[in-house]
Amino acid sequence: MTNIHNDRVLILDFGSQYTQLIARRVREIGVYCELLPFDVDVDYIKNFNPKGIILSGGPDTVTTDDSARAPEIIFDLGVPILGICYGMQTMAMQLGGKATSAEKHEYGFAKIRARSHSPLLIDINDEINDEGHGLLDVWMSHGIEVTKLPNGFERIASSDNCDIAGFANTEKSYYGLQFHPEVTHTKKGKEILDRFVSQICNCQKNWTTKNIISDLIKSLKEQIGKSNVLLGLSGGVDSSVVAALLNKAVDDQLTCVFVDNGLLRLNEGDEVMQTFAQNMGVKVIRSNAQQKFYDALENEADPEKKRKIIGHAFIDVFEKEANKLNNIEYLAQGTIYPDVIESAGAKSGKAKVIKSHHNVGGLPDDLKFELVEPLKELFKDEVRAIGVELGIPKHMLFRHPFPGPGLGVRILGQIKQEYADILRRADAIFMDELYKNDLYGKVNQAFCVFLPIKSVGVTGDERRYDYVIALRAVETIDFMTARWARLPYDFLDHVSNRIMNEISRVSRVVYDISGKPPATIEWE
Ligand code: XMP
Repeated sequence: MTNIHNDRVLILDFGSQYTQLIARRVREIGVYCELLPFDVDVDYIKNFNPKGIILSGGPDTVTTDDSARAPEIIFDLGVPILGICYGMQTMAMQLGGKATSAEKHEYGFAKIRARSHSPLLIDINDEINDEGHGLLDVWMSHGIEVTKLPNGFERIASSDNCDIAGFANTEKSYYGLQFHPEVTHTKKGKEILDRFVSQICNCQKNWTTKNIISDLIKSLKEQIGKSNVLLGLSGGVDSSVVAALLNKAVDDQLTCVFVDNGLLRLNEGDEVMQTFAQNMGVKVIRSNAQQKFYDALENEADPEKKRKIIGHAFIDVFEKEANKLNNIEYLAQGTIYPDVIESAGAKSGKAKVIKSHHNVGGLPDDLKFELVEPLKELFKDEVRAIGVELGIPKHMLFRHPFPGPGLGVRILGQIKQEYADILRRADAIFMDELYKNDLYGKVNQAFCVFLPIKSVGVTGDERRYDYVIALRAVETIDFMTARWARLPYDFLDHVSNRIMNEISRVSRVVYDISGKPPATIEWE
């Protein structure tokens, strides 16, 4: 069987906002890579045995004394190195060149001219000028530039504002680019990265969805043997893909527990049972714990306390179900690679030690199981691709994010079943219309919020005094900042009418026009 980890690239992170993009691009190209902090243990780098190294960009000013440097060992390994932005600047400094504050800072699009026919850029261009030079549209973001080449290096790219926009020592296969090939604004960026990893580092493209699945199934079989595995199945992307993988790997040694907490979306519980129990033949225990959650939440209006109550009730229900089962040795979790990167410890305030991460409802450490985390090397896009291949319905895999506490943070203040029922129906109408109007995929998150206040309305001759539903839809890349989605007025009008006409307890619908910051995406 192909060893999908054999040809591997190491990415050293100097803290740029784009570093994860480098890793995702390299994986998309078909090559396994890992992302580690620039100050990771030297032994880790040696043992990793990379076929190539990429140094990311970063916020430091390379000319200051205490700015970050690449570990010297990377220059002794005899493998190709690509420095991007800060990565290029520190390479210059460490190898005897010089970088200085740029006369003109460059942020945004730039046109660069490829030079010297370097193996990295040759024949890659967006256009060719009258003099026959290849030109590339790229994304620049820097205030410092390399001003003196290290010995043995030549210039391979320049722009109007940046004389040395790229350099190379082709003998050693060391390259530097001042622009960012990992962002999609650099049109030929992926081609450049592909050139680096597959031709310069000579990596085989074995990191494909089919190969990853075969590899995961094989290692799950090896890890689990004849033992039994428990999985908390939430119906979200990660736990769903874990369920499908384990089902293939160990079949009926897998038992899933699906907790219906009464705060799920319309028909969500039935859909999870249909997909996994009926269609895939997975053993799923459905715990109908709605009343337990409503009881635990009674009279609590504080958002943080509500979150805690929901978290504790989940653990309680899950443990009770687990205790009813015999001979369970393993607990499967849907931890993915970004969780691992984020929950890692720090030497210089950056990621370092890799820890296990409990993300299914936050299970406690004292559950006496060994962990199985088949997705912990994968980015979300890779998890989704595996899900598609394993036959999980696309709308489950490409759904907007849904918070762990579910509708609990979308019913303001006290939670009552009546409120949850109204909200579920309103939300289903909003989603239905977003899909029908081809708008679902154009926003990054959309949902309804239940406001437990009453407002006056009129239906026919009758006066109504009923609840308010708020519609929320946002555009965002990272969910850290968000812009409210400019949905068409006619669409909003139609959704609002449907909600008020079809749900008798709603007399008013409002649209949330708050950006994040200062508002958050959820209302609680
Ligand atoms: P906020 O409201 O903080 O939300 O702007 C940012 C993103 O995080 C999701 N979110 C949560 N997810 N448990 C979760 O699993 C939570 O308690 C939680 N709170 C917010 C939110 O849906 C949005 O995508």
